[in-house]
Amino acid sequence: MDALALGNIFSGIKKATKVVIVSNRQPWFHERVAEGIRAFRPASGLVTALEPIIEAVGGTWIAHGSASADRLVVDRKNRIRLPEQNPRFTLRRVWLTPKEEEGYYYGISNKALWPLCHIVYTKPRFSRRDWETYKDVNKRFSDTVLDEVGDSPAIVFIQDFHLALLPRYLRNARPDLKLIQFWHIPWPNREAFRIFPWSEEVLDGLLGNDLLGFHIQYHCNNFLDTVDKGMEAMVDYENFSIYRGGRPTYIRPFPISVDFKQIGIDSGSEKVREKKECFIRDLGPGAEGTRIYVGADRIDYTKGIPERLRGFDLLLQRNPDLKKKVTMLQLAAPSRTQIEEYQSINDEIENLVEEINRRHGADQWKPIHFLRAHHDYPAVIAAYCMADVVMVTSLHDGMNLVAKEFIAARPDGDGVLLLSQYTGAARELTDALLINPYDIDQLADAMLQAFHMPEKERRQRMARMRAQVEKNNIYEWGRKIFEELLKRVSFGKSRSEAKGAPEAGRVIQRLNPHLAIVKYLTYRCSSAILRKVNSRFA
Ligand code: F6P
Repeated sequence: MDALALGNIFSGIKKATKVVIVSNRQPWFHERVAEGIRAFRPASGLVTALEPIIEAVGGTWIAHGSASADRLVVDRKNRIRLPEQNPRFTLRRVWLTPKEEEGYYYGISNKALWPLCHIVYTKPRFSRRDWETYKDVNKRFSDTVLDEVGDSPAIVFIQDFHLALLPRYLRNARPDLKLIQFWHIPWPNREAFRIFPWSEEVLDGLLGNDLLGFHIQYHCNNFLDTVDKGMEAMVDYENFSIYRGGRPTYIRPFPISVDFKQIGIDSGSEKVREKKECFIRDLGPGAEGTRIYVGADRIDYTKGIPERLRGFDLLLQRNPDLKKKVTMLQLAAPSRTQIEEYQSINDEIENLVEEINRRHGADQWKPIHFLRAHHDYPAVIAAYCMADVVMVTSLHDGMNLVAKEFIAARPDGDGVLLLSQYTGAARELTDALLINPYDIDQLADAMLQAFHMPEKERRQRMARMRAQVEKNNIYEWGRKIFEELLKRVSFGKSRSEAKGAPEAGRVIQRLNPHLAIVKYLTYRCSSAILRKVNSRFA
């Protein structure tokens, strides 16, 4: 599957149908620089994955305009055509006040939902005031989408946990819209989720979608279970769908990916070659001839950066002969720095790097080069190309696209991937060295194994991983999502027919007869009866 083929699927349905992608993070942001205003791509897996999709199908991307020069480049409707050199879609920016950003983005999204869904021993924090702001901002996105689509039929593809209430707002305003949402982070088990003070509202919001996607089946199962035990809705485990208010929402796994072919092409570009030279200069003569161990992450406590550093430290402690033979290059993009937990992870990392470099560094050789900055796409690809080993040590990650980008960036067929077993990617990339990042000894062992891995084995493993990412590339992800939507919803329906009840009846008939009666009753009955019937037959 490629861009053209995905575009063709769309040309069949598009006609008057508009396509709108909605996310918090924008695919490009504009900043003032010495020469004027420049567009940058943010460090975001979501953007890496979604930009090729919108470029293939066209349409409008609605997102928060958060950078200093964003307002200066848009038209009166807050729109700009992108990418600048070869425009293929429209970005429409939504403006938020600092107070709104505080409550909605830093507050509910990143102090509450982010730690709640990742379960990495960072306590989520909840504030009623933030929740009010989260609702207001979701409403603002809803108004913007409605303005953007006008009276036209439209497919609205919503991204992530920042916009959990948006589908319900849209559904109430326009029952005929085709709504898909992809949840880019894990969905936790119901025990973890139920502490969220407004859990029912979040679930209800998400059940405004026609189709709700997660990276892996495990997260789908957690979601079904959370709804089943946490609210009034009919959960059909056979068909992986949930009925709420007479309409179905289909819950499906869609493992996200990257533009395999394009990344391979870009890895051979002049820009990437220049960036490689820059890195070689920055690493200095001490790194010459050493094996390069690369990490590339946003600075986030879910990414396991301190664990990775400790693993590298232990590797050098146990194998002093490796000194001056290995160098770690860590690209680290600052992220969410207004949040306390992110400030402390920054401090912890800085101290660790200093300590390890002091302990092991000798002559011109520095074991760890920690480059804390926003690195652009060619720089990240250059680092992957230089790597002997790429290390992904997330404590928990929905997918992790660093792993897949690295593989796509290596048409030369060499390189070792060290990958946390707690990433979605670990399910597909079984030829990586899979590790538990909480186990520092195991991390150090895997780093040593990567050092000694014979070239033949490296190439065999890489070839199998490349075949996997090539097959399940980002266009294949898009195809699966949109074909599933086409299978599930009728594009011929008028607004009034689009309520979903007849389909609910058909699904009930497919269930086993006894369960069907109970489920049918629960579906029709008032909330009090529903709870009793459910507990009786549970
Ligand atoms: O994939 C999870 C996610 O939160 C995306 O939504 C986001 O683009 C990325 O991580 C980076 O985070 P942020 O947008 O908060 O900088």
